[in-house]
Amino acid sequence: MAGIVPPVGLPGHAAVICGLGYWLPPKVVTNEDLHTRLGTSEEWIYSRTGIASRHVADPDMATSDLAVEAGARALKSAGDVEVQALILATTTPDRSCPATAPEVASRLGMTGIAAFDVSAVCTGFLYGLATAAGFIAAGLAERVLLIAADTFSTLLDPEDRTTVPIFGDGAGALVLRRGIDDEPGAIGKVVLGSDGERSDLIAVEAGGSQERSAAVQEGYFRMRGREVFRHAVERMSTAATAAVEAAGWRLDEIDRLVTHQANARITSFVASELGIPPDRRAQNIERVGNTAAASVPILLAEATAGGYLAPGHRVLLTAFGGGLTWGATTVVWPELESVSLGDEL
Ligand code: UT7
Repeated sequence: MAGIVPPVGLPGHAAVICGLGYWLPPKVVTNEDLHTRLGTSEEWIYSRTGIASRHVADPDMATSDLAVEAGARALKSAGDVEVQALILATTTPDRSCPATAPEVASRLGMTGIAAFDVSAVCTGFLYGLATAAGFIAAGLAERVLLIAADTFSTLLDPEDRTTVPIFGDGAGALVLRRGIDDEPGAIGKVVLGSDGERSDLIAVEAGGSQERSAAVQEGYFRMRGREVFRHAVERMSTAATAAVEAAGWRLDEIDRLVTHQANARITSFVASELGIPPDRRAQNIERVGNTAAASVPILLAEATAGGYLAPGHRVLLTAFGGGLTWGATTVVWPELESVSLGDEL
């Protein structure tokens, strides 16, 4: 059962989106680039996943580099306001210790603020959003910078055709400020859940305290795709339905569905399950692949920049990832300037 984590409904303490940005590393890898090396075909990848290309970080680029770029753009979009906390959702920190967030905060000129990482794989952005909303509700911060950044290319077995075509690297970020419950941009109740009994479905076995083996193969990310697919559809559909109910909305009132971009077929099944028609489903997987925690905020930023997400839209967000973890929330889209990778800072 998905639990509901309400962002504590004290009047005047809702978390409201006031800044949005994203960044993708410049290098693009197409399906054509992969097919000979991996023994796959462009057609297989595109028809099974909806992915045509993805951005991949250069070897000298770490997750913090992507996070700083996205964070700076979100701050610019918010009018270069001060924040009191930085939360970084990532499964690919620069090092296993310490967290990457403090370094990102310092590089953004914010040494001294609260800064920490949140790890919930592809649901990391929604777990981070609930945490940020909690900081604001508890009076710990007036504004929070939430960045979701992942460089999954650094975890993949370069020979594994079941994972390499799927994942891309990227970062997305939001600035949240203290506001009131019913204003545009106020984050609705966040539904979060987990199932640790299926932690084996998406995992990197080595490198943690449990498996200290140095075997190279165990240091790679592995996913049991077909089983994950089934859980992803079921969990995102259930969480999304619960979030819509918690908001007091009906599913037929949703203007835009923004799902974690795991696979175009997964988005399609979730949308059909919810009865949300194709013209209301945001999608960018074709050009970016699955960017893990960064997937939802990159899609929000691109859709805002392109005008697909407009002020007043009732937006439903949902994500699913390793853990297993899942989540969903709602928001009436606010007036925002999305600062994207091409923009001067
Ligand atoms: O972000 C976190 C959540 N992640 C997800 O939600 C991912 C969920 N899973 C998926 O998106 C899909 O399961 C995949 C895209 C990973 C795989 O697609 P699938 O349709 O479920 O394929 P499959 O894993 O069941 O494999 C079917 C066949 C297998 O061959 P056999 O055993 O039927 O002979 C695979 O070996 O396709 C083969 N295959 C490939 N063939 C060509 C797997 N990957 C490839 C490939 N190219 N890249």
